[in-house]
Amino acid sequence: MKAKRIAIVTSGGDAPGMNAAIRAVVRTAIFNGLEVVGIERGYQGLIEGQIVNLSLRSVSGIINRGGTILKTVRCEEIKTAKGMTKAVKVLENNKVDYLAVIGGNGSFNGAWQIYQASGKKVKVIGIPASIDNDVAGTDETVGFDTATNTAVEAIDKIRDTATSHERVFVVEVMGRDRGFLALQVGLASGAEFILVPEVKYDLIKMCSSISNGHKHGKTSYIIVMAEGAGNSQAICDQIHDCARLEVRFSNLGYIQRGGSPTARSRILAEKFGEKSVELILKGEKTKIVGIKDNKISASSLDYAWKGTKELDKKMYKLAEILAI
Ligand code: F6P
Repeated sequence: MKAKRIAIVTSGGDAPGMNAAIRAVVRTAIFNGLEVVGIERGYQGLIEGQIVNLSLRSVSGIINRGGTILKTVRCEEIKTAKGMTKAVKVLENNKVDYLAVIGGNGSFNGAWQIYQASGKKVKVIGIPASIDNDVAGTDETVGFDTATNTAVEAIDKIRDTATSHERVFVVEVMGRDRGFLALQVGLASGAEFILVPEVKYDLIKMCSSISNGHKHGKTSYIIVMAEGAGNSQAICDQIHDCARLEVRFSNLGYIQRGGSPTARSRILAEKFGEKSVELILKGEKTKIVGIKDNKISASSLDYAWKGTKELDKKMYKLAEILAI
């Protein structure tokens, strides 16, 4: 049966470029004769039946805006049988053939469960948008480039103080489970050390390298750490005790999630939006769109949320070499 009605939902942590993705799906879908509705407040809004019509004009003036006009929620209820039944009912009542989910791994897991719970009637397409860039099936997620640039801009400023005061700065970026953002930010800001959950680091070795460097005239350091890479306070204390240098901690926090998307995040969102509609028109059942080796691609949705994306160890090595 030919698809008629798409529902778009943004789910999980917001990411800059989600709006550009909404706009791209709405406009390419309408251009191709499909109807589009939006679900407000993620899967929570779906359970509660918060459906709005989306027209060509309802997505005007949003391409440059961070966050998501549809709003988002980290929804626990969708993980329950009762919540899932309600969600599927709302989709059926609204005659939705396809659910386009803009989000990350947790959201794609939810999408997969919705497909199964609907008796495979509601098909699902995933559009990866997350500042963490941790979705298997795509080299880059929408929002990752923007968050990287935001963090790099902040660290460039922090470096001024680090240099002037001859201090060590430990800067925490987001990434509860994965270090993609920390690695990218560390490379782009010339960090002396990058700490990520995927790579075991030796604090004692790091401290003695800082002490040695200091003896040889290196007076300031930037250490970029992912949120999930360890206890920031303990790391700062250890550097201070061992290297006898002034250490400061700075958590970049939520500034990384917001703000106007970069051109790169917007264009990626546009290409993903177009590809999703192409997959819908082809009648695909469960796919996520992505970019692989610079080509827009599609892979199976369950692979995306079950699979683990590898951190680029070569880039990690390069960061170490460039920091000597
Ligand atoms: O999933 C993106 C992310 O930014 C993680 O890196 C971070 O740990 C988490 O969201 C924080 O989420 P919340 O704002 O829901 O606490």
